[in-house]
Amino acid sequence: MAFDIKKLLRPHILSIKPYSSARDEYSGKEGVFLDANENPYSSPTGEAFNRYPDPYQHLIKERLAPIKGVGKEQIFLGNGSDEAIDLLMRAFCVPGKDNVLLLPPTYGMYEVSASINDIAIKRVSLTEDFQLRPKEILEAVDEHTKIIFICSPNNPSGNKMRRSDIHAILKGFEGLVVIDEAYVDFSDEPSFTTELNEFPNLLVMQTFSKAWGLANLRIGMAFASAEIIRVLNLIKPPYNISGLTQERVLASLENAEKVKEVVAAILKEREVLEKALKRIPLVQKIYPSHANFLLVKVLAAKEMYDYLTQEKIIVRDRSKVTLCDNCLRITVGTQDENRRLLEAMSEFQPLEKTLKP
Ligand SMILES: Cc1ncc(COP(=O)(O)O)c(C=O)c1O
Repeated sequence: MAFDIKKLLRPHILSIKPYSSARDEYSGKEGVFLDANENPYSSPTGEAFNRYPDPYQHLIKERLAPIKGVGKEQIFLGNGSDEAIDLLMRAFCVPGKDNVLLLPPTYGMYEVSASINDIAIKRVSLTEDFQLRPKEILEAVDEHTKIIFICSPNNPSGNKMRRSDIHAILKGFEGLVVIDEAYVDFSDEPSFTTELNEFPNLLVMQTFSKAWGLANLRIGMAFASAEIIRVLNLIKPPYNISGLTQERVLASLENAEKVKEVVAAILKEREVLEKALKRIPLVQKIYPSHANFLLVKVLAAKEMYDYLTQEKIIVRDRSKVTLCDNCLRITVGTQDENRRLLEAMSEFQPLEKTLKP
């Protein structure tokens, strides 16, 4: 199917001129900079935070492009992936008219962002084993459906989606297909970044918040065709990634091999945790995970959640979410954290009446 970004974008976006930042006309490093109303002195702590950062994060993109096997012009960096989600809604969906298609149970920010932007939501739930229903998804699309959000590996279920199902959606839908790969580093599945050149309607999101351990810095990635990335850069706030974040991300990219070690350690702990959880009598089911968390079905989920919170062990209660009845989502912690979780879960005694059918 033909993908035409001009037809898909909100019409006024095409005529927007980007904010021209004070330094766009001069890219030299040396000079007397009196153009951006910056403070010429250092910051109160003595650190040099007084100058604005690079709005397009060139150095990070130069390092990241070969790591991800994409061109620099195919990378957008946002204040977390959450910024990319919001910008996509604002670029493509006319409030009060267009809609996005969500596949519950899934990551909550797609819905939050759509609601903030007054964009309608269509939903096609996943199957019982959390896989996509490509036929129903393509049937649910209408002329106002601009974006389909697929999360793989999926939050909160943890599984990866079948690649052939994603291909069917990419081929059958004329709008934008976003594949959120926040957890892809924990999976054996190759990233969809390898298929960007085949699918002009594909955008892949990843994040530095999970495997890279940089959640506090707030930086997420989007990979797509240069023409889609150009639009995101056009409408983003000019200095969306702070200089400090850029500096620390660059340093992290120099130590990329560390990420592999940390991921291996988390995967090993996930296996240990899964085995130990299976031995707890109240645990009914542990769903297969390709992420750094486990979705666990238990007897008396809400009561167990409250008990764990009281014990200062915070997990995520997903029991009210589509297809996640009585489920807790548990992040894989350190050996010690997991041990404390397991101890508390083993000691928990639900009330008799909670267990009665
Ligand atoms: C599927 C998914 N996408 C995106 C994010 C957010 O990532 P970021 O920290 O880059 O905003 C999360 C965070 O939990 C997530 O689960």
